[in-house]
Amino acid sequence: MPATVVIGAQWGDEGKGKVVDLLAERSDVVARYQGGNNAGHTIVAGDQTYALHLIPSGILYPDTLCIIGNGVVVDPVVLVEELDQLEERGVDTSNLRISGNAHLIMPYHVQLDTQSEIRLGKLSIGTTRRGIGPAYQDKAARIGIRVQDLLDPSILRRKVAIALEWKNETLEKIYGEPPLDPDAVVDEVLALVPRIAPYIADTSLILDTAIRDGRTVLFEGAQGTLLDIDHGTYPFVTSSNPTAGAACTGTGVGPTRIDHVLGITKAYTTRVGEGPFPTELDDDAARHMAEVGHEVGTTTGRARRCGWLDLVALRYAVRVSGMTQLGITKLDVLSGLPEVRLCTAYTTPDGTETADFPWHQSDFHSCTPVYETLEGWDDDIVGVTSLDELPPRARAYVERIAQFTGVPITLIGTGQGRHEVIDNVEL
Ligand code: GDP
Ligand code: IMO
Ligand code: MG
Repeated sequence: MPATVVIGAQWGDEGKGKVVDLLAERSDVVARYQGGNNAGHTIVAGDQTYALHLIPSGILYPDTLCIIGNGVVVDPVVLVEELDQLEERGVDTSNLRISGNAHLIMPYHVQLDTQSEIRLGKLSIGTTRRGIGPAYQDKAARIGIRVQDLLDPSILRRKVAIALEWKNETLEKIYGEPPLDPDAVVDEVLALVPRIAPYIADTSLILDTAIRDGRTVLFEGAQGTLLDIDHGTYPFVTSSNPTAGAACTGTGVGPTRIDHVLGITKAYTTRVGEGPFPTELDDDAARHMAEVGHEVGTTTGRARRCGWLDLVALRYAVRVSGMTQLGITKLDVLSGLPEVRLCTAYTTPDGTETADFPWHQSDFHSCTPVYETLEGWDDDIVGVTSLDELPPRARAYVERIAQFTGVPITLIGTGQGRHEVIDNVEL
């Protein structure tokens, strides 16, 4: 797997962190390419649980180079906190490199994210309120502050002053909040520079060299396909592109250098925040998924909405990212359900049945899922590591997913632990 993108195929929280950590064991470099600390990637290694938000899920291996690419938005306060926490737990972070072109999440971005959500009221997106949207907004408006600006205090001061000129107007006049003092904002950030500066590097060059030298590189997606600002369920999306193409723009590596795209999906579906979700359930099966799967948000602690696996959406995810293989996590969570369902088509409001993901939001918002029902299995499969140990019904469920999506399933998660997985298979 020379250069592989690992990406969420649903609405995030598919178990990307666990999979990246697993593959990082045999990889040289792990690079994040979009999103920020809206992500929450959980790794369970032995009796230790790590919840990473900004730092790539390869950090637990001392020899793996970890990169925060230019497409990521970096909250410097969160970065330093996460570094400190890891180091306190004995994790060596010296192998982290951060792109000088990555944009910073400033305190006003966090404030504006919160205020905008409050203002939207019933129409709110349910963001993580981490300042992600406002930071990407400033990047596109070309008034963003970049990691490299940390190295030049006078430029930093000028840029923050310009940005705050109208952020303060917005805070005061629209939201009735007190304005921020530009110097205080800059001083707070500058205090963190000694801690961050050693990590800043030309990460595009580092990645290029690694790929040329035949090293194994993983691109770690955050969020998931349906949260993509272009291909997701807009406006209930994040403000970046989690889909595979962004691995190139978000790190400065050309598309011809990527060999594989591994999509990660749960064996069922979850979603945190607002927005349409055709296969959402409010019944015993949903309660089973939520309880057995511990479906609580890693970043915000919100309960995740649960439902059946949506194969229409999954096949769409395969398409828009050109996925070459799929990993299915949390198959163990479905054990004990009398029957399991797969959504294989939608009926749209005009009565049309379609197996293609609707391009029009109204069709998606009001479609009803068409299900195929398969027999459930009772056997506890937690920790199972070979296909032979899977109950035939669980295997049939996985095989149906592979058949419908048209890509091989190469990994099946059977528990939270790092090695609770059926790996290196092809179904
Ligand atoms: P990410 O954002 O995609 O990295 O996923 P999260 O870490 O937010 O959520 C996935 C949750 O499922 C985490 O608590 C993982 O430890 C857990 N998990 C991942 N794979 C499996 C699996 O195969 N089985 C079970 N039971 N839990 C898993
Ligand atoms: P990982 O990487 C699940 C959701 C939020 C909200 C929407 C926009 O752990 O899979 P934002 O703060 O990004 O502007 O919020 O996106 N969201 C996630 N949901 N997993 C994530 O990351 C998410 N990151 C953002 O709940 O609905
Ligand atoms: Mg998560």
